[in-house]
Amino acid sequence: MSRGTLIDLIYLIAATTFVLALKGLGSPKRARVGNLIAAFGMILAVGATFFKLNDQGQHLRHIPLILLAMAIGTIVAVPAARFMRFTAMPQLVAIFNGVGGGAAALVSITEFIHIKSTHPATYVTLEVLLGVLIGTVSFSGSAIAYAKLQELMTGRPITYPGQQIINALFAVAALALIVTILVTSSSMLLWVLLIVAFVLGIIFVLPIGGADVPVLISLLNAFTGLAVAASGFTLGNNLLIVAGTLVGASGILLTRMMSAAMGRSLSNVLFSAFGSVVTASGDAARDDGRTVRSGTPDDVGVLLAYSNKVVIVPGYGLAVAQAQHVVRELADLLESKGVEVSYAIHPVAGRMPGHMNVLLAEANIPYEKLKEMDEANSELATADVALVVGANDTVNPAAKNDPHSPIYGMPIINAGDAQNIVFLKRSMRPGFAGIENDLLFDPKTVLLFGDAKDTLSKLVTAVKAS
Ligand code: TAP
Repeated sequence: MSRGTLIDLIYLIAATTFVLALKGLGSPKRARVGNLIAAFGMILAVGATFFKLNDQGQHLRHIPLILLAMAIGTIVAVPAARFMRFTAMPQLVAIFNGVGGGAAALVSITEFIHIKSTHPATYVTLEVLLGVLIGTVSFSGSAIAYAKLQELMTGRPITYPGQQIINALFAVAALALIVTILVTSSSMLLWVLLIVAFVLGIIFVLPIGGADVPVLISLLNAFTGLAVAASGFTLGNNLLIVAGTLVGASGILLTRMMSAAMGRSLSNVLFSAFGSVVTASGDAARDDGRTVRSGTPDDVGVLLAYSNKVVIVPGYGLAVAQAQHVVRELADLLESKGVEVSYAIHPVAGRMPGHMNVLLAEANIPYEKLKEMDEANSELATADVALVVGANDTVNPAAKNDPHSPIYGMPIINAGDAQNIVFLKRSMRPGFAGIENDLLFDPKTVLLFGDAKDTLSKLVTAVKAS
């Protein structure tokens, strides 16, 4: 078997592992194995690439420099991934994704310069310029997404008059530049394209509110995938084309699924500047005189211990409080007293897809206890208690009852159907969407104010004593 055939075979195996890995990542049970399969495929692919000959039959050059770059990348990325707080995962994905897009753009720029210096009469091809455009938009857009999530800048949408027209003009200018460069092969215009793409990435992301940034990151991920596929065409590397297209396609699917889970269209997510207005008062009582009922862990402990069925509704606050282990302790304790316990998982609870599943899996909570939204909703009417731990928007009935609410149409967990609702949160502050939650004022609702982990520990003590 020739060297080329062997490398193609290894690439085929690697491409297959990527598809299998995606399949694995589709379920929390198999996600870890899926990740390992992808990593194995990637090691195979990178290893084989060192032995690949180019079109002129030359060996890979600058190997020490490549190894140095890989070492630097490893030294930066491994601790970043290991020590990043779990709640900061979306921004970690944003920055990794941005770097990927930037790398794809650099490959395209290098190829442009290479073509111009070796064959000045040759016209540059479309994929090189698409690589520059998409990769750069992904790079600068991801940097702004990172800054928003890391709170280096405001997470609120930044808007100004004529914004969408200006954005559209930049997009049209970028496409016009690509056409002109294809015709003229002008090197100078390549740098103009680079600047326009860089600015486009920034202004595209500025009006998107923090609550929608995870959806945006998924879309930017898809962009990076497409930029990588373009690099694959540029370099004549089939595996890059396959891998980039898989990332592009799965990123777009994920973006659509996340938008659908919030009951919104993708254009609404990208262009409506959702989250610009905060409508919550932040006070314990509203102007209409309704007040909330705040309870004690002892009262709620008794309520839980004498229930038949408790449905736990986790949300972003559970992740912030790192309360997954103590929630399991409480659930185990209740089960030992004969209480049926399950978890109602909203598809966009938390800040990224599968956030709650991963968090609860970390505490070894059995998967079969995690009920998807529809199944959970059919059970809630027969539950004695819905224990809402750090969730807010995902249980807000305004999504069903208030056509003027920005979250109107978003499917929710019907925590309000349970006989009793217990909210564990620190204050009356709203959730990520910035909208007041009427369920907090429901006569069936009791609030336990405080950090979810502390409150759950107190509940464990109270249940033990009852
Ligand atoms: P949120 O609506 O953001 O509510 C989280 C609640 O947790 C807040 O009310 C907060 O209240 C409470 N909290 C925060 N830290 C806490 C702590 N240490 N202890 C106790 N409570 C704490 O969360 P959710 O219900 O999970 O909804 C998710 C939101 O993110 C939705 O708006 C969704 O559209 C958006 N989103 C999600 C995704 C994905 S894929 N998951 C993607 C895009 C957007 P206090 O401050 O009063 O404690």
